Amino acid sequence: MSTPATTAVTNPPYTLRTPRLLLRCMGPDDAARRKEAVDSSGSHLDGFFAPTPQEPMSLDAHAAQLRKFRAGFDLDQDRGYGVFEPETGKFLGEVSLLRRAGLGALEIGYWLRRDVVGQGFATEMASAAVKTAFELDRVLRMDLMCKPENERSAAVARRLGFTFEGRLRDRQLAPHHDRGDLLCFTLLAAEYPKSPASQLPLEAFDFLGRRLA
Ligand SMILES: CC(C)(COP(=O)(O)OP(=O)(O)OC[C@H]1O[C@@H](n2cnc3c(N)ncnc32)[C@H](O)[C@@H]1OP(=O)(O)O)[C@@H](O)C(=O)NCCC(=O)NCCS
Repeated sequence: MSTPATTAVTNPPYTLRTPRLLLRCMGPDDAARRKEAVDSSGSHLDGFFAPTPQEPMSLDAHAAQLRKFRAGFDLDQDRGYGVFEPETGKFLGEVSLLRRAGLGALEIGYWLRRDVVGQGFATEMASAAVKTAFELDRVLRMDLMCKPENERSAAVARRLGFTFEGRLRDRQLAPHHDRGDLLCFTLLAAEYPKSPASQLPLEAFDFLGRRLA
């Protein structure tokens, strides 16, 4: 049995490489890239980011979120990876591993910019996060929550072998999202070897750039 994630992760991957994607901890230069990705996505990302009196979301608001993401890596808390096209550096979206799922578990969250939907990138970046969570963080369970109407997100969960647990009433966890029901999907460590995520070719590198097993 794997060691459960009841102890803090001490050497998390800061960079992940999949066949088509680069996932990494973000820095100041990424704020403008993120803003361009969100601004160009229009209503596709409505309700996903915190509402702001400024429209579109300001560069400073993006920078504030990136500072929190970066701190999460260094403090062994939530990890939000920026997802990039390796050849061009184009900002494609984000995938996060969140600790609010509880002991020995991580919740996955993700979004893609509008113009790259429908090419399997969400499935690939979610697979990278799932593989990292089970093989490096050594979690025993992963959660994936989405709004009932978010069929594309539910499809990612099903593609990765997550089991639909149920519709949780009034369970919105993100403070800036509208209250409402959530669909809950889970994948257990015992089920992970049968998930397509376990077959993903993945390279992981720590803070010092050293390859992780
Ligand atoms: C949820 C979201 C990330 C899903 O994106 P997506 O593009 O539908 O998912 P994928 O990138 O995995 O692409 C899947 C599609 O690509 C196709 N595809 C092509 N190549 C593929 C590959 N190598 N692997 C998997 N699917 C592939 C699939 O058949 C599928 O096609 P379909 O759209 O005709 O069903 C996206 O809709 C989004 O960003 N939404 C807004 C934010 C959001 O809701 N986030 C989730 C909150 S819970």
